[in-house]
Amino acid sequence: MIVKFFRNARIYTPEGKPPSRGREQGALRVHERGAMLVQDGVLEAVGTEEELLSNPLVKKVDEEIDCEGRCLIPGFVDPHTHMCFAARREEEFSMRLAGAAYLDILKKGGGILSSVRHVRGASEQEIFERTRTLALSALSFGTTTVEMKSGYGLDTESELKMLSAIRRVGRETPLRVVPTFMGAHAIPEVFKGNGDGYVDLMIGEMLPAVAEQGIARFCDVFCEEGVFSPEQTRKVLVEARKYGLGLKIHADEVHDTGGAALAAELGAVSAEHLLAASDEGIEALAASGTVAVLLPATAYSLRKPFARARTMIEKGVPVALATDCNPGSSFTESMPFVFGLAVLVMGLTVEEALVATTKNSAHAIGLGAECGTLEPGKNADFLLLDGETPAVLAYHAGVSPVKSVFKKGERVA
Ligand code: NIG
Ligand code: FE
Repeated sequence: MIVKFFRNARIYTPEGKPPSRGREQGALRVHERGAMLVQDGVLEAVGTEEELLSNPLVKKVDEEIDCEGRCLIPGFVDPHTHMCFAARREEEFSMRLAGAAYLDILKKGGGILSSVRHVRGASEQEIFERTRTLALSALSFGTTTVEMKSGYGLDTESELKMLSAIRRVGRETPLRVVPTFMGAHAIPEVFKGNGDGYVDLMIGEMLPAVAEQGIARFCDVFCEEGVFSPEQTRKVLVEARKYGLGLKIHADEVHDTGGAALAAELGAVSAEHLLAASDEGIEALAASGTVAVLLPATAYSLRKPFARARTMIEKGVPVALATDCNPGSSFTESMPFVFGLAVLVMGLTVEEALVATTKNSAHAIGLGAECGTLEPGKNADFLLLDGETPAVLAYHAGVSPVKSVFKKGERVA
């Protein structure tokens, strides 16, 4: 048994069990001159130094760490990434800058389909190495838990190859990695004009194979005009649920196709993107408690209006934030960058953005009981910032104010 005593920190953390929404979205506990007792990587006590000095565990401390008065927050949980891929798409970025639309590039066989060609042509080892590099970079920016989607394989073998590489990243880096099967990311070229045929392949072959290997925790579908219709999305997700997978939807990213309401109706854990979500869609999410995962770096990179985060919070939708890290619509692994956009462009308060990048994002990937807040029983995943309050994450723009990263009580970056 190893007991560590972290002291002399300014601790900012969300608390409590269910995802935070409405006024709670901005509720934080602050411990000035705070301290934490960590036993074998798990938080035993969090409070002021004074309070913790009377805890009996203090007598068994093996190591005392002075946090030098720094601001201490939970490790970021990035609940939506496509960081497993085989090649960048810088050319396509230039095409977008010259005026090409994201969905038009996809229609012409580029975009996601170009990533599919690269993944199919790469070995699992190559994909693993690239993904590990990005994951370790994310870790240095404070991400201690990350979700990663497949979806650049689009056939059974290549989707399993991606999920296997993703599993290795979880085993061979300090990050906790949550895998999502996203065979329904695009319609592969051989099924062009026959989306229903591809849906049948997912149901008949891909989902059973993924379930048999126990290699994914969630299933996600890109519900969008020209990609998967709400009916096709429903069909895939209803089937995925039979295998015990949690449900997610890329909903109303470019057009409002009713994806948010569908996520609510199916009891999905999250609806993601929501740039074009309607008032009805937002109300449906509020009623179901589905977490809205917002991806401001995608709106930034696609130069689209940002999701209506303020309306969502006012209506009582629990809001989380993620990078969407992918080679196309949002190439960033930096949660501090996302934090800054959320505060300065979307109008979240610093407190709301902190809840959205930690507690609510943990709930968006089913890990609300394990991480996302600094409370007894949770993993000791936390960051020390170069600043007095979490506001520094938006204030010191374009750099990372994350000075050190701890995963289960160990310094990992
Ligand atoms: O979340 N919208 C679909 N999927 C990703 C983009 C993936 C890509 O362009 O490679 C997204 O934006
Ligand atoms: Fe995405």
